[in-house]
Amino acid sequence: MEKVKLLYEGKAKRVYSTPEEDKFIIEFKDTATAFDGLKKADISGKGEANCIISSKIFELLTIKGIKNHYIKRLSEREMLVKSVKIFPIEVIIRNRVAGSMAKRLGLDVGKELERPVLEFCYKSDELHDPMINEDHILALNLATEEELKTIKEMSLETNKILIEFFRKCHLELVDMKFEFGKDSQGNIYLADEISPDTCRLWELGTTTSWDKDRFRKDLGGVEEAYREVKERVINTPIDSKARIFIRLKPSILDAQGSVILNALKSLGFNEVIEVRVGKLLELKMDRKVDEPERIERMCRELLANPVMEDYEWEWIE
Ligand code: TMP
Ligand code: ASP
Repeated sequence: MEKVKLLYEGKAKRVYSTPEEDKFIIEFKDTATAFDGLKKADISGKGEANCIISSKIFELLTIKGIKNHYIKRLSEREMLVKSVKIFPIEVIIRNRVAGSMAKRLGLDVGKELERPVLEFCYKSDELHDPMINEDHILALNLATEEELKTIKEMSLETNKILIEFFRKCHLELVDMKFEFGKDSQGNIYLADEISPDTCRLWELGTTTSWDKDRFRKDLGGVEEAYREVKERVINTPIDSKARIFIRLKPSILDAQGSVILNALKSLGFNEVIEVRVGKLLELKMDRKVDEPERIERMCRELLANPVMEDYEWEWIE
């Protein structure tokens, strides 16, 4: 799939159209900004790290049933996604006090919270992404009540999944920012990226940052942090199960099916008029890297005979 036209260039990403209307390509840049673009620098390897981290996390979320825009990773820094219209809302989830919450409420950084805190911000750099509430969103028609409910539920569920995944990477997920989009049928997808640019990640059991705070606060070791998170994410296996159905193409005579049909009829089950036999495979996997189309390739190259058989597959929990 190739890029057709640059549709949008943001601070850390470019979005391109593709020959297919319902797909975009996102390209991750090395540029980092903080304080709404006031501070800017290139961080070598950041684009690649964020693309690889986001891809694997979106794959995990797909397996866990969270609808998201990710289709597949195309290269080190390019991702193919569903084209969606982004809601002008940022959703922030906090598991521990840090960043603007610590400042705004005069709380100690690192204070534990009784339950996750969900905040909304209005996406506008000029206004510095001001915090808004549900009433603002509904009154200004930024999303409908039903959309908002879905966005909140998906955010909290994603938080649970990510806390557990990052813990396996020996990282604590302190807080994060999500963006959501809508396709032409009105389906809601988690979109944008999930990376050290959009999450606070601390070494488990400490307050050592492995995220963009190293850049925001001039803590040093910025490139190393992105590289380290990338390595940990790549090396943390995702447990997944895929169910594959393989059946003969409708045009192919099913000899085994005919034998079963005759046997059924001889036992008096005359209501059966056709039997087609298929195969069901369940694959349990422990994957370290996200690699697009692995299951498709398994089906095409070994499991199914593409001349005679059709296949379908799905993730199962
Ligand atoms: P905050 O504490 O500065 O409000 O940030 C909360 C989380 O949101 C943190 O993980 C960083 C992320 N974030 C973004 O992804 N983009 C932004 O523009 C800001 C301000 C925060
Ligand atoms: N996204 C914000 C900016 O553009 C910065 C941040 O993540 O703190 O500058």
